[in-house]
Amino acid sequence: MKETLLSHFKEVFRYEEHRDEEAVRFFFAPGRVNLIGEHIDYNGGYVLPATLSFGTYVAVKPRTDNKIKLFSVNFPEKGMISFSLDELQYEKEHDWANYPKGVLSVFQEHGYVGQRGFDAVYDGNLPNGAGLSSSASIEVVTAVLWNKINGFQVDEVELVKMCQQAENEFIGVNCGIMDQFSVGLGKKDHAVLLDCDTLKYEYSPLMLGDYVFVIANTNKRRGLTDSKYNERRNECEQALAQLQKNHHIQKLCELDGKTFENDESLVTNDVVRKRAKHAVFENERTVKAAAFLRNGDLLNFGKMMNESHRSLRDDYEVTGKELDALVSAAWEEESVIGARMTGAGFGGCTVNLIHQDQLEEVLSRIGKKYKDQTGLEADFYIAHSGKGAHEMN
Ligand code: GLA
Repeated sequence: MKETLLSHFKEVFRYEEHRDEEAVRFFFAPGRVNLIGEHIDYNGGYVLPATLSFGTYVAVKPRTDNKIKLFSVNFPEKGMISFSLDELQYEKEHDWANYPKGVLSVFQEHGYVGQRGFDAVYDGNLPNGAGLSSSASIEVVTAVLWNKINGFQVDEVELVKMCQQAENEFIGVNCGIMDQFSVGLGKKDHAVLLDCDTLKYEYSPLMLGDYVFVIANTNKRRGLTDSKYNERRNECEQALAQLQKNHHIQKLCELDGKTFENDESLVTNDVVRKRAKHAVFENERTVKAAAFLRNGDLLNFGKMMNESHRSLRDDYEVTGKELDALVSAAWEEESVIGARMTGAGFGGCTVNLIHQDQLEEVLSRIGKKYKDQTGLEADFYIAHSGKGAHEMN
């Protein structure tokens, strides 16, 4: 990968052989797949994502002036995007480059001011808009490289919080901390159980035996995601405000299921009540699922995944016909012990826990049923888990 990146870099920046190649540094940040704990990071709940072995690669070389020049192999039609460190404003025509720009801007806001800019080529192999955190991967790889080349020594947790801030304030998507956190701090062959309220976390080994996690892409672009996402967040806030009349809580996920059931009538709107119900029970499911994983009880882990999907479909209403069709087709297979949508929803990917035997046949049957119902081809990838963001040596 480094060689391909370096050759892109030389081509884009017209570096000649005798120029100082060694000064080019290489960074990587993965994507993530969330195994369970959906739409509860912003409700102070537990999530259980795993980092993937694929993501965003960057070749970067510091400049002597304060210019930033960015090129993406994935969006060659956007050409070279240039700006300087004293003009870090959002610009629509800068398209994908607003993600790295947002990160640099948040660093500045926190007093980490770099004097010298850089040339960089970005190259990613995550499907775009598929719910595997391609944007968090771009943000975090930028944060890690900017931290390193300037020697700022911002710690990992602060770094991912700054990336979330960039997404919230610069890009305008009101996401929680899950994506940036897992992309930054993920560990190979582990999922991370993260308490999104306190940011305490523990790694959970993925002891899967004869099973694999398979990601299935609906190839339905997530159309209205951002507006629907912010709408769900507002609904959760409404529920919280009503529940606070009887409970000293700051976040919905502080309530356990029993307490919620006793007092759910405090939430007057039926739809808003369903949203809160999802949040409270999804949190309980995630804690249970993490314990099942720890004990190697994959069958019960899979059941939690299935329940999670039903709740996201019926109560949180963020699935849609494509995700439901792909999950239902998976549920019909005996060797699939768990299947659910992953990420924000409304399109994007599902995650499936499947026995390795006859995997190809199983996936081809699922793909065929899905195509019959939706007219779309699904893509399948085995989710190998990789290391969080780092410099490639
Ligand atoms: C998106 C957001 C995350 C999280 C998920 C849903 O990926 O970026 O913060 O809320 O949706 O679980």
